[in-house]
Amino acid sequence: MSIGCPDLHQPMPTTAPDLFSNDYLSVTTSPRARNAFLKRVTHMPLVFGSGGSRLLTGNKDTHTDFEARITDFFGGPGCIASTAALFNSGYDANLAFWSTIPQKGDAVVFDEFVHASTRDGMAASPLKSLGALYAFKHNSVLSFRERVQQVLQAHPNIANGQGMLFVAVETLYSMEGDYAPLLQLLDAVDELIPKGCAHVMVDEAHTSSLFGPDGRGLLSALGLQGRVHTVLHTFSKGWGMSGAAILTSPLVRRYLVLYSRPLLYTTSLPHAHICGLNTVFDYLAGPDGNALRDRLRKMCNYFEQILETALRHVPPDLLSLLHREIPADYPSKVFSPIFPLISRSPKLLEEFLRPLGYAVTAIPYPTVPRGKEQIRVVLHAGNTEEELDEFVARLLQWVTMMEADEERRQEAPEDNAHPPERAKL
Ligand SMILES: Cc1ncc(COP(=O)(O)O)c(C=O)c1O
Repeated sequence: MSIGCPDLHQPMPTTAPDLFSNDYLSVTTSPRARNAFLKRVTHMPLVFGSGGSRLLTGNKDTHTDFEARITDFFGGPGCIASTAALFNSGYDANLAFWSTIPQKGDAVVFDEFVHASTRDGMAASPLKSLGALYAFKHNSVLSFRERVQQVLQAHPNIANGQGMLFVAVETLYSMEGDYAPLLQLLDAVDELIPKGCAHVMVDEAHTSSLFGPDGRGLLSALGLQGRVHTVLHTFSKGWGMSGAAILTSPLVRRYLVLYSRPLLYTTSLPHAHICGLNTVFDYLAGPDGNALRDRLRKMCNYFEQILETALRHVPPDLLSLLHREIPADYPSKVFSPIFPLISRSPKLLEEFLRPLGYAVTAIPYPTVPRGKEQIRVVLHAGNTEEELDEFVARLLQWVTMMEADEERRQEAPEDNAHPPERAKL
């Protein structure tokens, strides 16, 4: 990764409000969640490490009880993905699924922007050397349909029931802040792929806890649980912890438990960690969670409004909000808490904001294509309107400085031979 070549010796600044982490519901700073955790953990007989992998001594009742809880929560009536397998991270879970489940004779059609963990899993799968991995253009239903048709022609065994066509998509893409057109993609699956020959895997990393009843996720909000075969819920974003669960069929879970290396060859989560997970599920899967979800939506609407006004007269290449597609067939309550701010100078913007205490990271070329260089702002339930006003004012201050700098250089063209390394602050 080439984001600023960090050596990680310095912590991120924390003195300004959090406008960048994945802690969407501000769980990590909630005194209520903290106190509930401390109360609960006191009564636990074991708090430290589990002592081994799930297959050895690390399969304690702490783990099996939590997995049963997650199975009940995410895998209720109407879900095809009805059984949970617990992983130490979302990265491990994707790696496990994609390296283990698709087999020779199968093929994968995936959105070109799926997360690195899905890519790494596919790279470790036998399908990689067999040339059976097919990307489609990000969020393009047309490209998806073309790919599926191409795959069915190239792999006639799939339509004959001798292989499976896997589909890999996410609900909300974290760099673009846009949503997959899930209903249209699933309609295309039903229309093009013979019944029983498709396996759709949806990564809910950025929507788990934010949508659906009690935070069950976007698929639940859209009523799509009966059309998706495997779902990834990470606990590292909105749930404010880390770890993940794959919800899937009992057969696929059995394969994962028997063969997936990220589950077999690592020590399972410590007891205190699972205590934390139970605490945040108690906190967010109820009225407190509903209030936080509502609050986050309000903050997002407010931020979008003030940003739009503030950036109206700013040259788009200097600073603009990337258009974030939310499919027209999604309920109006669905919003995106991710705001990619496109700028030709994201590093200069980072250098301006960091000393003010913002934990911002520029995402420059070549991490993203030219024209998509950005800083990525993420909103949280704990943000306030005043914090957002202040941040937008800072953005405009930077814009004014950049424009003044540009003007100066136009008036004194000899300076252009040595353009400033950074905006004068
Ligand atoms: C879409 C997606 N899937 C999986 C992961 C990995 O999750 P974790 O951070 O829990 O390992 C991430 C993390 O950024 C992600 O964005």
